[in-house]
Amino acid sequence: MYCTRKLTEQVTWVGGSDRRLALFENLFPVPHGVSYNSYVIMDEKTAVLDTADAAISRQFLENVLHTLGGRPLDYLVVNHMEPDHCANIEALALRFPGMKIVGNAKTFTFMKQFYDLPLEERMIIVKEGDTLSLGSHTLHFYMAPMVHWPEVMVTYESSEKLLFSADAFGTFGAVNGSLFSDEVNFDRDWLDDARRYYGNIVGKYGLQVQAALKKLSALDIAMICPLHGPVWRENLDYLLGKYDKWSRYEPEEKAVAIFYASMYGDTENAADILAAGLAEGGVRNIAMYDVSSTHISYLISEVFRCSHLVLAAPTYNNGIYPAMANLLHDMKALMLQNRTVGLVENGSWAPVSGKLIRAELESLKGFQVLEPVASLKSALKGDSLEQLGQLKDSILASLNG
Ligand code: FEO
Repeated sequence: MYCTRKLTEQVTWVGGSDRRLALFENLFPVPHGVSYNSYVIMDEKTAVLDTADAAISRQFLENVLHTLGGRPLDYLVVNHMEPDHCANIEALALRFPGMKIVGNAKTFTFMKQFYDLPLEERMIIVKEGDTLSLGSHTLHFYMAPMVHWPEVMVTYESSEKLLFSADAFGTFGAVNGSLFSDEVNFDRDWLDDARRYYGNIVGKYGLQVQAALKKLSALDIAMICPLHGPVWRENLDYLLGKYDKWSRYEPEEKAVAIFYASMYGDTENAADILAAGLAEGGVRNIAMYDVSSTHISYLISEVFRCSHLVLAAPTYNNGIYPAMANLLHDMKALMLQNRTVGLVENGSWAPVSGKLIRAELESLKGFQVLEPVASLKSALKGDSLEQLGQLKDSILASLNG
């Protein structure tokens, strides 16, 4: 049975949610599910904006067919060619022989790579600023390369001021009936997933997101309709502000996150004592994660949120403990910038993890390592306890500076 929601009189959400998927992109846990949004515009001509993932094909097709109400589909606009949005192109093409497919040159390159569709009679190739009239609705196409793939474009409908923003402004999380962000407590229930989605999926492309934000700032937008998560029709500045901050790699909050690795509990003990000292010094809402047991996507999300990080790790095979090395690898891959970091190392006979982590951090733009590094030999005592106290004071001074 169809399950749709109207955005406006002539525009309908025809997407769906997957609550069974364990790992998005076979990488990222989605305990709250994920939605794949698609939209139909009914005018003199009919249009679908993006399709959906194969997991929800049945729901998607029922939604589209119901919304069309027996009319043919004239246009399919493909803003993004990643399979979570384009898995149903062929299904629509088979049902609607007269349907034209609208995309840019790169869209069709990817479409031919993924599928064997007879496209020649169907393709409408658009470029920056091109328009397509559906009747009273007019679609305007703007390229947004690398937000999140090179072929990505966004579509702006000018009569109702709707921005179909592709992956931009999306979030993990199933749409549980409440399609609009003003129907949920976004800060409480969605923001963490939105940050985790942004940081891990689009985080590397801050420069390109900044370019897209600049381009979009010229548009009068009443509603943002992303491919994942809630549609925004209120408080757009809140969302645009988050994206602006994340894409400039500025911390969202003045806050401390402690990431520790610990083989037998001694490095964890140092992390606990440091956290307690910081709390006594007035720091609130300290976040602490065991990097061995926390999925890295949550760690990355916290790096995007917090101004101050503590990395505490043992030395392992004369290198950095693997789970911590993995976090550093992702921070580098995602081009993280502008954080202040305290270090705690451990090593029973030759502690070198602090030196090695420092070298990794110093290769990142705008990272500052606080002094001293607390250096444990097996367990916290004597000199290392003193160093840990000094590190706590450095963190407090930096937070209050
Ligand atoms: Fe939701 Fe880049 O695909």
